[in-house]
Amino acid sequence: MAPREIRPGIYSVGAVDFDRRLFDSLIPLPDGTSYNAYLVQGSEKTALIDAVDPTMRDVLLSNLDRLGVERIDYVVANHAEQDHSGALVQVADVYPEAQFVASPKCKDMLVDHLALPAERIETAEDNGTLSLGDRTLEFIHAPWVHWPETILTYLREDRVLFTCDLFGSHLATTDLYATDEARVYEAAKRYYAEIMMPFHRIIERHLERLEGYDIELIAPSHGPMYDRPEFILEAYRDWVFGDPKNLVVLPYISMHGSTLAMVDYLVDALAVRGVRVERFDLSATDLGKLATTLVDAATLVIGTPTFLVGPHPHVAQAAMLANALRPKLKFAAVIGSYGWAGKAVEQVGEMVSSLRLEMLDPVLCKGFPREGDFEALEALADKIASKHRESGLQ
Ligand code: FEO
Repeated sequence: MAPREIRPGIYSVGAVDFDRRLFDSLIPLPDGTSYNAYLVQGSEKTALIDAVDPTMRDVLLSNLDRLGVERIDYVVANHAEQDHSGALVQVADVYPEAQFVASPKCKDMLVDHLALPAERIETAEDNGTLSLGDRTLEFIHAPWVHWPETILTYLREDRVLFTCDLFGSHLATTDLYATDEARVYEAAKRYYAEIMMPFHRIIERHLERLEGYDIELIAPSHGPMYDRPEFILEAYRDWVFGDPKNLVVLPYISMHGSTLAMVDYLVDALAVRGVRVERFDLSATDLGKLATTLVDAATLVIGTPTFLVGPHPHVAQAAMLANALRPKLKFAAVIGSYGWAGKAVEQVGEMVSSLRLEMLDPVLCKGFPREGDFEALEALADKIASKHRESGLQ
């Protein structure tokens, strides 16, 4: 993407990756992504905030060239992950006078992962500042958004907060700003679910700390910028601080139709009790959509046939994903069928053990479900509805 001025002397110089479809060899990217980098020119010094993925290094260097940038004094590395730091090596070569600035932990990572020379990296202390002349960068240590070394950079005079992964969205767009807020909301929520949710307790503290900053523009390193910061701050407050909703997430696999019959029955039984359900056929679903639903869900119901002794492998993957993402779930249950015996319930329980959920009674049937099994599903729907009511969930 061509460089664009966002304030006098402040430019977006990163790359939009419309074609990327997978991140970390795991996370689907239905809408691509971007690796945003920003050039900040002060009256005396020039700083580059973050770089780009190594596959897009030529875009960054070309943008700097198109702007006629002959000298970069500082390169701030907010985060050491390669989608932002990967092109630092080439920046170091093209701009030999540039000093890199990173948190102490990030400095070690840049040396370890990229072999950047340690003598070219200055460490940024928490609340430390760097003068560019008439502009001042302030560094805010913000561990675990997304790695332990991460910092945010606040440009005081312009009230711009460069947040790297925090508040990002995997969204390839020509829009500089979140003008289509509904679309950005979905992408940012999905990003939060996949990347940030495991650290939501720490993000609570970061959000509280950011209350003390006057912010006019939030400039993340993925997706569009927020010229109405309250939009994304309010969304994060809901995702991080808010109670879960009156919502069941129901991922399932059915091999011969028995578990599917139970799933269909339970979805109806919950719906007539006023409980919202999002169901996901794990043989076809996009795990990112499942993760997004986990942001709000109060109850996880897992539908699985018995596969050999335990849950179906797709179900095991979904359970382990939920366990890793640390959503605000309160309750869980297992439903499904078996042919002769099995340990699916016990094994699923172990797979979500980090979530400290209240496990509700499972409903398992031998072969195809019959009247007694459907009665048990009615009882499970009653239990979930009453648990949600007692918890005051909306
Ligand atoms: Fe966008 Fe954690 O890197």
